[in-house]
Amino acid sequence: MIFVTGGAGFIGSNFVLDWLAVNDEPLVNLDKLTYAGNLANLASLQDDARHIFEHADICDAQRMQTLFEAYRPSAVVHFAAESHVDRSILGPAEFIRTNINGTFTLLEAARSYWMTLPDGEKAAFRFLHVSTDEVYGSLETSDPAFTEATAYAPNSPYAASKAASDHLVRSYHHTYGFPTLTTNCSNNYGPFHFPEKLIPLTITNALAGKPLPIYGDGQQIRDWLFVSDHCAAIRCVLEKGRVGETYNIGGHNEKANLDVVRTLCAILDELMPKAHGLYAEQIAFVTDRPGHDRRYAINAGKIQHEMGWVPAETFESGIRKTVHWYLDHQAWVADIQSGQYLAWMERNYAQRDAHDERGIRHDANSFYASHSQGHHPCRRLRYPSLSRHHIDLQTALACV
Ligand code: NAD
Ligand code: DAU
Repeated sequence: MIFVTGGAGFIGSNFVLDWLAVNDEPLVNLDKLTYAGNLANLASLQDDARHIFEHADICDAQRMQTLFEAYRPSAVVHFAAESHVDRSILGPAEFIRTNINGTFTLLEAARSYWMTLPDGEKAAFRFLHVSTDEVYGSLETSDPAFTEATAYAPNSPYAASKAASDHLVRSYHHTYGFPTLTTNCSNNYGPFHFPEKLIPLTITNALAGKPLPIYGDGQQIRDWLFVSDHCAAIRCVLEKGRVGETYNIGGHNEKANLDVVRTLCAILDELMPKAHGLYAEQIAFVTDRPGHDRRYAINAGKIQHEMGWVPAETFESGIRKTVHWYLDHQAWVADIQSGQYLAWMERNYAQRDAHDERGIRHDANSFYASHSQGHHPCRRLRYPSLSRHHIDLQTALACV
């Protein structure tokens, strides 16, 4: 049996479902169930004895030790983290706690347990640390893609906390011979993606008639990987990766944010046309993310050459599957969009300046703050006849 930390989050829950679909080895899912953890993602495993859920915080050293002794896993796949860059800017403390102290606590518990194993099990044990391309910092347009040898230059508290955890993992191999593997992956997208991140936020805001916020000029570039391809890559590294090594994982899909949002709008225009107008009319340019990295790009040659892993999905196929998934799972989205979610939307977006594609300014506060308080902006402006869920940007501007 293996341990998966953070298995109720976006990538973790996809990994758990994927793992149990392709092999019979049971797993213990250790998750604190923060705002990002959602057991509904794993509802299909309700009667599957191969999935054992433990509600646990990786920062709890005593609990980690007890769990290792109780289950005696053969490997750990470590996803648990605070993962949203904007949250790390507005409140970095939780990122230091979970991503750095939590990884340290987990490493210590795993190493103590590993030292007690008989030789054969000790040699076979693996600790796979799931990390990000953000540790490498930002690229210029003409720079070559990140390789495993690129120097670390993290730019956000999130990226710095992940970089610190990567260094701890590296040191545990170098100092103690602890059998670690590290993966650094680009932006994932797909089912169960929490709608605070660009792709699910765009889909859910578009369907709700809300603005589609683009930070700065929208020309920042990310490399996008469909989440099931990431899960397959992690299984490959767990099975065939060389101990102590790091592996970059990417989708060969560099896209500017504005192009991603426009692509989503075009797919929605086709699958779920609005009564009037196009979804792209909801695009709103808002104040940029502080310290926003301009470009990420991954050279995934090492994992391809050593293990033959390449992504199965193109961006075109993966993004369509993703839109279909969100259209088919609107109840999942509605469950997430509770008061806590709305409070986050207000905190992150309400103070940003905003303007539309024609450069016309509007007050972002009027969209997010009023939604979270349950008042439609147009109601405050005495346009009571407008439906709460079908306002678009032009209508809002007309109201103002
Ligand atoms: P997520 O935020 O969706 O999920 C994180 C999960 O970890 C949640 O289930 C949460 O409840 C759990 N968790 C948080 N703190 C915990 C704690 N102290 N103890 C136990 N569980 C805790 O994150 P994600 O997007 O699925 O990312 C998973 C991992 O992959 C992270 O380590 C992230 O840095 C890395 N990663 C993410 C991406 C991406 O595009 N999302 C890309 C590369 C790497
Ligand atoms: O690169 C891997 C990383 O990808 C992971 O390590 C992180 O856990 C994951 O959250 C993701 O980080 P990003 O910051 O790239 O993802 P996000 O979806 O937040 O933003 C993607 C891009 O879109 C980024 O350039 C910021 C921009 N953006 C984001 C939001 C939420 C907007 O323009 N508007 C928005 O409202």
